[in-house]
Amino acid sequence: LQNSSLAPASYTLAGSYGFCYGVKKAVHKAYELAEALQTGQKCYMYGAVIHNKQVVNNLTANGFILVDKADAVAPGATVLIRAHGITGEELGRLRDKNCKVIDETCGYVRFIQNKIAKYHNAGYQIILAGHRGHPEIVSEISFAENNVIVVDSLAELKTLNLANLPTVLLAQTTFNHQEFTKISNFLTLHLEQLLIFDTICRATVDRQLATKELASTKDVMIVIGDRSSSNTKRLVDLSAEVCGETYLIESAADMAELKFKGVLAAKQVGVAASASAPDSIITEVIRIMNENTEVTKNQEALEETAKNQNAVDKQAAETGNDV
Ligand code: F3S
Repeated sequence: LQNSSLAPASYTLAGSYGFCYGVKKAVHKAYELAEALQTGQKCYMYGAVIHNKQVVNNLTANGFILVDKADAVAPGATVLIRAHGITGEELGRLRDKNCKVIDETCGYVRFIQNKIAKYHNAGYQIILAGHRGHPEIVSEISFAENNVIVVDSLAELKTLNLANLPTVLLAQTTFNHQEFTKISNFLTLHLEQLLIFDTICRATVDRQLATKELASTKDVMIVIGDRSSSNTKRLVDLSAEVCGETYLIESAADMAELKFKGVLAAKQVGVAASASAPDSIITEVIRIMNENTEVTKNQEALEETAKNQNAVDKQAAETGNDV
């Protein structure tokens, strides 16, 4: 692995990458709870707190019990709610069981839940651009008793026979921004009364734009993230549109394999990381890249970027403002 012929000519990190504020906050809270647990004591995690296997495995090893329904929770127990949120009904069940609910639903998701509830009560037709079955979508549509039309593309939307009713359009927080624009433009032409809320979160937009911009200038792109994560999949798709050699890696071991196969040799490499990719994996990937890299991006500039990005994410996730 130390052979310099396997070395990339250079690598660059995307201008925006890694944990967003919402994920950082939820994970921080989870570790705080884990630390406070007495030996042998348990605490529940409703759904994976974030879509990252390594983080979730680590938490379950530290006293968390992962559940996917309120019925599996003991009465009166402490329950951490994931950043993607859960359904209104399930929240109600936990409260009925006198559970101590630590709700780490991200501000952006809560904003969508509230808008859906409001416009459902006002009798609007609601369209949500997103991926059916994703935990965030399941949680959001529950606030309209599941009376929401979920579409994952303009192509799917075109197959529907939509009624020309007052309509609200929103998006899953991690939805592809370009696709959302296409859907918005199409509906604007076909519906008389349409309200559009671009609810794709700021951290997602920043990471998508930064990844695509970087990918368009590189021979090889490495995207760090979990296969089960929606925002990781988006980054991979966007990168692959402009960079044929795009690789998804979940761990430093995957990275070492790429390097071993010579995929990175003498190439211009871009590195992007999704909003659910932990710093520990990013740092390890950078360490591997640094082993033989001739040119690297200035470390101080990277730290400055991370600081600024965190401040913007924090403000956005706390206020849940439209973006
Ligand atoms: Fe993160 Fe919240 Fe956006 S969890 S990706 S800031 S919706």
